[in-house]
Amino acid sequence: MTGAADESTASQVLSDAQVVLRPWTREDARFLVEASADPAIREYNGDHDRQGRPVPPPSTAQAQAMIAKFREHLDVFTVSGIPTGVVFLIEDAESGDPIGCCGVDSWTGEDVAQIGYWLVPGGRGRGHATRAVVLLTTWLFVLGAARVVLTVVAGNESSAAVARRAGFVHEGTMRSHAVWQGRRRDVLWFAALPSEWPSRTPGRALLT
Ligand SMILES: CC(C)(COP(=O)(O)OP(=O)(O)OC[C@H]1O[C@@H](n2cnc3c(N)ncnc32)[C@H](O)[C@@H]1OP(=O)(O)O)[C@@H](O)C(=O)NCCC(=O)NCCS
Repeated sequence: MTGAADESTASQVLSDAQVVLRPWTREDARFLVEASADPAIREYNGDHDRQGRPVPPPSTAQAQAMIAKFREHLDVFTVSGIPTGVVFLIEDAESGDPIGCCGVDSWTGEDVAQIGYWLVPGGRGRGHATRAVVLLTTWLFVLGAARVVLTVVAGNESSAAVARRAGFVHEGTMRSHAVWQGRRRDVLWFAALPSEWPSRTPGRALLT
C-alpha cells in the first residue's frame, strides 16, 4: 500500500456537512443490538448459516464484544496502515443520532479493498448511505487502495442504487454466489478505481 496511517487515525473521523463517520464506542452497543434486529440488515449484512438463515441478533454483551473487535482493528490499522476490519458508525451530522454503519471487510495483498454498509430504517431515504460510501471510498483511495469493491445481492435495489449513485461501476454478476433462506441468489459486483474518482465528492455524487 502506498499511503500511511498516522497518529490521528486513532480518533479517525470522516465527515461532510451531513454525515459523520466515527469509531464505535462501548456506549453504542444498544444501537448495534437494535439495528441487528432489522429484517433488511439481517438479510443483507451480518452472519448467516449455510442455508442463508441469519444468526440471532447479538445480546448487549455480544455487541460490546463486536465493538471491541472494531476498535482492535482500528488499533492494528494505526500500526500497520492496513484498514481491514475498520468499521465506522454513521451519525446524522445535524442531530448527532447514530443511523448506520460502514466499514472495510478486507484489504488484499494487491491493495483491493472491499466495503460494506447499512442504515437503520430511520436513517434511510436522505442520501446518507451514499455520502458515507463516498467518504469511506475517498479515504481508502487516500490510503492507497488500487480498487474498492462492494457486492450486492440481486434484488437489493436500494443498495445497488447507493453503489451507482456513489460512482461505482457494475462490472458483472456472480451467478448463484449467495444463499438466502435455502435459495441460491446472484450477486452483483461493483468497483471504483482511483483514476475515475478525483471528481467525486460527497456533494457532487448526489447531484448526478
Ligand atoms: C442499502 C441502504 C443502505 C440504502 O439506504 P438508502 O437510504 O436507500 O440510501 P441513501 O441513504 O443513499 O438514500 C437514497 C434515497 O434517499 C433519497 N434522497 C433524498 N434526498 C437525497 C439527497 N439529498 N441525495 C441523495 N438521495 C436522496 C433518494 O432518492 C433515495 O431514495 P429512493 O431509493 O426512494 O430513490 C439501506 O436500504 C439498508 O441499510 N438496507 C439494509 C441493509 C443493506 O441492504 N445493506 C447493504 C448490503 S450490500
